[in-house]
Amino acid sequence: MGRITFFKIFFNFLIFVSSLMPHTKPVMGLPLSTNARWIVNEEGQRVKLACVNWVAHLEDMVAEGLSKQPVDIISKKIVSMGFNCVRLTWPLYLATNDSLASLTVRQSLQSLGLLESIAAIQANNPSIIDLSLIKAYQAAVSSLGENNVMVILDNHISKPGWCCSNFDGNGFFGDQYFNPDLWVTGLTRMATMFNGVSNVVGMSLRNELRGPKQNVNDWYRYMQKGAEAVHSANPDVLVILSGLSYDKDLSFVRNRPVNVTFTGKIVLEVHWYGFSDGSAWVTGNPNQVCGRVVNNLMSTSGFLLDQGWPLFVSEFGMDLRGTNVNDNRYMNCFLGVAAELDLDWALWTLVGSYNLREGTIGLEEFYGILNWNWCETRNASFLQILSALQSPFKGPGLSETNIHKVIFQPLTGLCILRTTLFGPLTLGPCRESEAWSYTPQKTLSLKGTYFCLQADEAGKPGKLGLICTDTKSKWDMISDSKMHLTSNASEGTYVCLDIDSNNTIVTNTCKCLSRDNKCDPASQWFKLIDSTRSSTSTKPSRYHSILDFQGKDFLWKFLSSA
Ligand SMILES: *[C@@H]1O[C@H](CO)[C@@H](O)[C@H](O)[C@H]1NC(C)=O
Ligand SMILES: *[C@@H]1O[C@H](CO)[C@@H](O)[C@H](O)[C@H]1NC(C)=O
Ligand SMILES: *[C@@H]1O[C@H](CO)[C@@H](O)[C@H](O)[C@H]1NC(C)=O
Ligand SMILES: *[C@@H]1O[C@H](CO)[C@@H](O)[C@H](O)[C@H]1NC(C)=O
Ligand SMILES: *[C@@H]1O[C@H](CO)[C@@H](O)[C@H](O)[C@H]1NC(C)=O
Repeated sequence: MGRITFFKIFFNFLIFVSSLMPHTKPVMGLPLSTNARWIVNEEGQRVKLACVNWVAHLEDMVAEGLSKQPVDIISKKIVSMGFNCVRLTWPLYLATNDSLASLTVRQSLQSLGLLESIAAIQANNPSIIDLSLIKAYQAAVSSLGENNVMVILDNHISKPGWCCSNFDGNGFFGDQYFNPDLWVTGLTRMATMFNGVSNVVGMSLRNELRGPKQNVNDWYRYMQKGAEAVHSANPDVLVILSGLSYDKDLSFVRNRPVNVTFTGKIVLEVHWYGFSDGSAWVTGNPNQVCGRVVNNLMSTSGFLLDQGWPLFVSEFGMDLRGTNVNDNRYMNCFLGVAAELDLDWALWTLVGSYNLREGTIGLEEFYGILNWNWCETRNASFLQILSALQSPFKGPGLSETNIHKVIFQPLTGLCILRTTLFGPLTLGPCRESEAWSYTPQKTLSLKGTYFCLQADEAGKPGKLGLICTDTKSKWDMISDSKMHLTSNASEGTYVCLDIDSNNTIVTNTCKCLSRDNKCDPASQWFKLIDSTRSSTSTKPSRYHSILDFQGKDFLWKFLSSA
């Protein structure tokens, strides 16, 4: 008991401390709308969705975790982990079957024999245990709202339970549990119920359409109908449309745009996991698989950005134990793309464990960012990596004049910067990144200075030089993944940018460019990301100690000329 109390106090203290730190800014200017490929607030400024999925669509229809922590603690935990939004799932029948929706949380758990969960929710959330299921769902939404967390209501399935398979009767319009009229009724009820609840910023019409009945004509017929119904019941929310084949395929939208009577609210969503490509990542060469999978992604959904639609990766994730090689390799490729395209996203999942999933009580979720007892993060280093993607690199409302590149390494979620004025180069938080420019002559220069990145022979640190016309100052992106940065260090030998064990930037022999499926090139994977974030390299403050001598004005002018 004493231990538990201690941890509770300690945990509350952490929450208190983290509430003092400026993590995510409260989102102002709701509701959201779209401006070409961007999601923007009332002032027209970009709001990047950095969401986490929270499950409430399983048999008990109760948001997971309420048996582990008070709802307000969970909401605050979401904020302290840097997320600004939750994709909260719901089963259609919660909205359409009044005898289900009016069951209390206690009754629902009782009917499934989940007696321990009853006692635990009673202890952690006494104000919720005897609410009806629909009121309990609303209580989770309000708690998120009180903590400035945006919510996307995601109709995940019809019949409550784990999702998804081709033959579960929930896959496509006309399936056993998927009556299109009932679906429109349910969407309308949820849209109406949350009309005026300002933190509910979007509704995902239906998760992962799939199965033998799926076809493009019915997709347009029903998705447009569902979209109109939601919009007329609640014109504030973004209307989010899933693709076919488990939300992997939106290719058909290329030549047949979604046709609805309203504008500025439609967002398309896509899902992308390691297992979306079976075990390709572990059986193949990571460069070749990444190149192939990303090409496929661009032709099935990524093209939408160029067509002016926002694309929300509403599910991605990995086994956070780090033991699944397929997942690990996929994630490095995913993070590169997500940074480069500056996508909106929702991690699968918040859930550390479920009350009941697929017949197992208390099942642990290794894709969950929280651990089994919803107390600590499962993998702090993954969260650190993910934090690189939580704020936008560019978009409306961010400086339009300070366009530069950052050099991002997915493996660490870090960017290349200088520790001191003349190097060495190292990895650090992307918010402190140098501003680089990649010139048509293929040099990587510090913007506004004469310095450029130069290769040395294999094993030596990469460095900054002033003579930028020789071959060792020219960089190409090579291999199928296009993530290896190479340079000709000397006659006939080329090297790749890499890191050593201290995160110092070095050049090394290029690793596993093709064929080999045994080795992992991730330490040599970098992306040049367009950014308009304000950058530190144009501000001398970091180098005050070095510049604090006579003549610093001269030196500074010299360094920042051009
Ligand atoms: C509502 O749910 C209950 C309990 O599962 C079920 O018995 C009933 O048939 C459902 N009602 C409708 C109209 O689907
Ligand atoms: C869009 O829908 C409207 C009304 O439903 C119809 O009149 C119009 O022709 C459609 N436009 C396209 C491009 O299909
Ligand atoms: C956390 O995830 C990373 C991959 O991002 C993995 O390398 C590491 O082993 C994991 N750590 C733990 C403690 O599970
Ligand atoms: C390095 O040398 C090769 C062969 O001469 C050439 O094809 C390549 O473009 C060079 N790379 C750079 C970055 O200049
Ligand atoms: C990393 O840093 C430690 C401590 O400064 C040093 O002893 C070690 O040699 C460095 N490793 C490499 C690969 O440079």
